[in-house]
Amino acid sequence: MKVTKAIFPVAGLGTRFLPATKANPKEMMPVVDKPLIQYAVEEAVSAGITQLIFVTSSSKRAIEDHFDSNFELESNLIERGKFELLEIVRNILPEGVSCAYIRQKSPQGLGHAVWCAKEFVLNEPFAVLLADDLIDGGKKSCLQQMMDVYQQTNTSVVAVEKIAQTETKKYGVVDVDVTKMPIAVIRGIVEKPQPDKAPSNYGVVGRYILKPRIFDLIENISQGSGGEIQLTDAIETLLKEEEVYALQFKGKRYDCGSKLGYLEATLAYALKHPELAQDFKHSLQGFLECME
Ligand code: G1P
Repeated sequence: MKVTKAIFPVAGLGTRFLPATKANPKEMMPVVDKPLIQYAVEEAVSAGITQLIFVTSSSKRAIEDHFDSNFELESNLIERGKFELLEIVRNILPEGVSCAYIRQKSPQGLGHAVWCAKEFVLNEPFAVLLADDLIDGGKKSCLQQMMDVYQQTNTSVVAVEKIAQTETKKYGVVDVDVTKMPIAVIRGIVEKPQPDKAPSNYGVVGRYILKPRIFDLIENISQGSGGEIQLTDAIETLLKEEEVYALQFKGKRYDCGSKLGYLEATLAYALKHPELAQDFKHSLQGFLECME
């Protein structure tokens, strides 16, 4: 069955970026000239997703507005003959792609956020994308690489990357036969283990393709790491019933939930931006010379 629906959990408070995220959703923070959520949406749409399901909270109105039309802005751009900008503003989503928004009333964890979308997904496989994780897959996006594995195996797929042993407490960590990587059946998965308890140094990044069975399993798990309903724990239960694959994707992931990762992403995307790259490189060289 084709995967056409994607869930974007965007209800988080973004406390790591306060005060920037006091009134603005963290997913709306720009990397050069596009908000983080737009990169995730573009990755999903280019991989064949046509239904976008956002799990939001009260302070996230800007996300809905971003993917909606803006009559006042569009009329103004038409009046001023700014047709190139008009195209950019109008074509954020291609024809045939629809959006749905569901409120997660209180932050209860990623598993709970995903579960909130159950009524929209029904009995279909679906993708989950966390906009915090900005992934430059080069020629083939991370989600497209996962779709390829899904098509071949018809099983759920989780994206992973190698992480430092000291970082395991920030990630879901998979137990896999490391000799089989970049694609291996997951034997176990644990949310944010201490380094000495981690089953490997492959950490889950924010891309999943999941079978709908996961919804029933989320309903039956209890609070896990951080007192939250963890998607990782539901996947661990799913493993007892069916195979789930870990894919070590090709590409570079930026952890835009952290200040350093966000700055790195900004640098990397500015350095490959068609209008900016040249000038930005010069500025950067200037800065570096001053520091020497
Ligand atoms: C979530 C997941 C975690 C995963 C991470 C990837 O954690 O719970 O398993 O490794 O995303 O970014 P969070 O970063 O939301 O705490």
